[in-house]
Amino acid sequence: MRDHDAQPVGGIARRLAHILTTRGIDPTAQLTDPAEPIPALQAAQARIPARYQDAVADHPAVAAWVREVAQAGRPGPKGAPGIAQGRSLLIVGTTGTGKTHQAYGAVRSLLLAGVRLRWKAITAADLYAELRPRAGHDGERELMDLARCPLLIIDDLGAAKSSEWTEEVTMRLINRRYNEMLPTLVTTNLGMADLRVHIGDRVASRLTEMTDKVILDGPDRRRAIAAQRRSITAATPPAYTEPPELAAPIAGSSARRPSC
Ligand SMILES: Nc1ncnc2c1ncn2[C@@H]1O[C@H](COP(=O)(O)OP(=O)(O)O)[C@@H](O)[C@H]1O
Ligand SMILES: [Mg+2]
Repeated sequence: MRDHDAQPVGGIARRLAHILTTRGIDPTAQLTDPAEPIPALQAAQARIPARYQDAVADHPAVAAWVREVAQAGRPGPKGAPGIAQGRSLLIVGTTGTGKTHQAYGAVRSLLLAGVRLRWKAITAADLYAELRPRAGHDGERELMDLARCPLLIIDDLGAAKSSEWTEEVTMRLINRRYNEMLPTLVTTNLGMADLRVHIGDRVASRLTEMTDKVILDGPDRRRAIAAQRRSITAATPPAYTEPPELAAPIAGSSARRPSC
């Protein structure tokens, strides 16, 4: 992946750790599942895809971003911090490196931290499908809702087929969020140079300024998980087969053999 604008993850993590330390927050403290259920988290789980229900933002730079966003939140109507203006995050990595996992993990961590949060997660492909002009559907209103949503996750930016229309929609969405400095978490397979070609220079320029960049450069976890399953299956002894004397029907008996 070509990526000349990438900042080393350690650098971002160190900078965020420094900011948190100066605010009296332990940057290494882990957010763990609470003893008491958190209603907002329980409600959010219904909107989190099954695969990512237990996702944890365990990447240090993502965890640090979560803490920074949580700390920036101003108290809402019931005293809990709400999401305010803040930096955005760009998670870059090839297929299967855990981008979507980190994104949902970040939402869960914010809720675990007690942040009151309206959020929406959508893939870029679904975003364009939803906003496509069609009879009986107000795409303009939907675009404005997404533009104003306190936390927006745009998954797989640059993966959908691009056109002048997708470029324009992406530009209007990102530009509004850039202007209002609303936290946006973007994941992509593409390095910035390729992203610029795919979604246009105006979007790429704004993303470069508004986001901290995290690069996930590990192997394809899906293939690793599949290989692990194969090795477990290979190590498992062959299935039990009944000895012939048990398997054979009892002479003269019409009774059905039990199914288990
Ligand atoms: N940090 C992690 N810990 C455990 N499982 C993970 C982690 N990151 C990713 N996975 C798992 O690896 C697979 C691929 O992750 P995913 O986030 O879908 O990748 P990507 O979005 O980069 O294509 C999924 O099954 C996911 O649950
Ligand atoms: Mg993904």
